Amino acid sequence: MAGNITLTMIKPDAVKAGNIGNILQMINNAGFKIVAMKYTQLSEAKAGEFYEVHKERPFYGELVGFMSSGPIVAAVLQKDNAVEDFRKLIGATNPAEAAEGTIRKKYATSIGENAVHGSDSDENALIEANFHFAATEMHA
Ligand code: CMP
Repeated sequence: MAGNITLTMIKPDAVKAGNIGNILQMINNAGFKIVAMKYTQLSEAKAGEFYEVHKERPFYGELVGFMSSGPIVAAVLQKDNAVEDFRKLIGATNPAEAAEGTIRKKYATSIGENAVHGSDSDENALIEANFHFAATEMHA
């Protein structure tokens, strides 16, 4: 699967706003295959582990608090060029800078509460997929 998967999370803001279905439809329409998916809630410890790379950033505490504040949808998506194509579909981290028609432009409210996560490299996509899913839960 390496090289053609990405990991997404529909974040607590988008779940609370009732946008799971809308976002999954955009993902489907863009040609991604869902190879794993779960509705779950991260503990603070697990959210801290997921975002450990940002540990020294000033927003780390806020990010961990927010990501563990409510349920999320985690999914592994498969497509040629998945990481780059998904980052195009979701738009810039800051929704104020996100292009028209992107998921964040439509559904995100701020840089912190930005509706969706997408992996930033093939290497991290694999690490993040394995963080959320056992091998038996991924169906390529
Ligand atoms: P995500 O793609 O999940 O990866 C890291 C997250 O950190 C990012 O989306 C944002 O939600 C969050 N983030 C990045 N910059 C800031 C910031 N300046 N303030 C708050 N949160 C941020």
